[in-house]
Amino acid sequence: MYKILKAEKLADKIFLMDVHAPRVASHCQPGQFVIVKMDEKGERIPLTICDYDREAGTITIVVQEVGASTTKMGELKAGDSFRDFTGPLGCASEFVHEDMETLKKKKMLFVAGGVGAAPVYPQVKWLHEHGIDADVIVGAKTKDMLILEDEMKDVAGEYYPCTDDGSYGHAGMVTTMVEELVNEGKQYDVCVAIGPMIMMKFVCLLTKKLEIPTIVSMNPIMVDGTGMCGACRLQVGDEIKFACVDGPEFDGHLVDFDQAMKRSQMYKTKEGRAMLKLQE
Ligand code: FES
Repeated sequence: MYKILKAEKLADKIFLMDVHAPRVASHCQPGQFVIVKMDEKGERIPLTICDYDREAGTITIVVQEVGASTTKMGELKAGDSFRDFTGPLGCASEFVHEDMETLKKKKMLFVAGGVGAAPVYPQVKWLHEHGIDADVIVGAKTKDMLILEDEMKDVAGEYYPCTDDGSYGHAGMVTTMVEELVNEGKQYDVCVAIGPMIMMKFVCLLTKKLEIPTIVSMNPIMVDGTGMCGACRLQVGDEIKFACVDGPEFDGHLVDFDQAMKRSQMYKTKEGRAMLKLQE
């Protein structure tokens, strides 16, 4: 059993939990994920690692209520436990393995949308701890929906919040903020975009035009996270990949977002899943 040491509401339907999982905490890296199960018969839920404390043996996860299982998860309190907490899974962010001297010369921009701030945070924190301060744009519908703001400000070079309703920070989409920064003369060597599929698609369309190589995280299309269900199958250039096994991070300029979005919509119904099986 994996004990929840802290459970906190970050925003409407968004929760943060610190879970005691020393083995996962001892060797996880930014970009990786875990699969949690509440009880024996519970659904397997893949969640990206938001933070880790190797000494305390804890992993921080952020959960958004989107279905029955995640809603049930949102009701858990400190002292409750998860039946399974498997990980770390997936590949670590590419920069973790990069030569430090080369990496230090790069100017990086992170773009997060909604709960995408959770997987972005450990990456920006890792870079900060290695002497690299990346710029971060975080977008949300309203000010109340922005998460991990203080944490992000502590580790980012420049922090640019954006809200759709203009209630805080830059009024408008994260893409207009990217354009604004580039027009002001900021130069970026790499962009990392994590958030809803539609946001990642439009960030990639823009960064392709601006010639900024872009990494995306295809977590949103993962279902069981085991390479078995087929939900996260996607086209990357002329290759077929599985987000949970080969990713979750990919070259955003090669990902076929329209196909991935259509597929993940179909995957939500029994009939759609049967259709996908016929096509394979
Ligand atoms: Fe099921 Fe990747 S999430 S195969």
